[in-house]
Amino acid sequence: MCNQTDFSSVKSYVLRGGRMTDAQKKAYGDLYPLWTARPNEGSVFNFNAVFGNSNPVVIEIGFGNGDATILIAKAFPNINYLAIEVFKSGIGKLLWRIDKEGVPNIRIVEGDAKYIIENHVEEGSAGGFHIFFPDPWPKKKHHKRRLLRRPFTGLLSSRLSSGSYIYFVTDWEHYAFSALEELSLTPGLKNSFSGFAPPSSWRPQTKFEKKAFRENRGVKELFFRKL
Ligand SMILES: C[S@@+](CC[C@H](N)C(=O)[O-])C[C@H]1O[C@@H](n2cnc3c(N)ncnc32)[C@H](O)[C@@H]1O
Repeated sequence: MCNQTDFSSVKSYVLRGGRMTDAQKKAYGDLYPLWTARPNEGSVFNFNAVFGNSNPVVIEIGFGNGDATILIAKAFPNINYLAIEVFKSGIGKLLWRIDKEGVPNIRIVEGDAKYIIENHVEEGSAGGFHIFFPDPWPKKKHHKRRLLRRPFTGLLSSRLSSGSYIYFVTDWEHYAFSALEELSLTPGLKNSFSGFAPPSSWRPQTKFEKKAFRENRGVKELFFRKL
């Protein structure tokens, strides 16, 4: 787990324990060296070395159990996915699925995405960011813990290569509108749509989306590109 810096001094997550099954524990032990990328202190990732090819690298922040990650990576084998999460049980689940289902284009990074992106992702090197159903932090006093706020959106913008994207999805209306404003006010980004984006056909539903539908909460999507 990486340390904290300015960007990550306000945490956007609460560390959940979660019980690991024996399969997840075994996956965590045996498969961790194979399918994780571990940054060296003081240096940025060499994505070509991490993935063994020069395909574009899309970074997912907070993959949960990795349900969307694995399906997207299978659907787009010529794109690499750097999947960042702090939740150990989710990491164990995704490690197990990567190995069992033979999906070579995912690498997991364990730690706070804010710290990792700030310290270990080179400027202009990312092909995109996926942020699906981030923790909503609905209480006003907690809004500062939301992931999609400036100056963090500026950091994301600086890491994107020209023309690449930020794709954000939430089922919390207040978060959706504030993220729209934050991204619109971030230098270097342009909304690809007027306001919210239409639903994409390729993003698989996760349990959070299904729960939102059951609870009659609509889902809102944002798609911004780096100028
Ligand atoms: C509500 S869950 C959504 C999971 C997944 N994206 C989905 O749609 O099923 C949000 C996840 O983001 C992770 N998360 C929040 N802030 C993070 C950060 N700064 N770095 C890494 N993971 C983070 C949490 O641990 C949690 O698993």
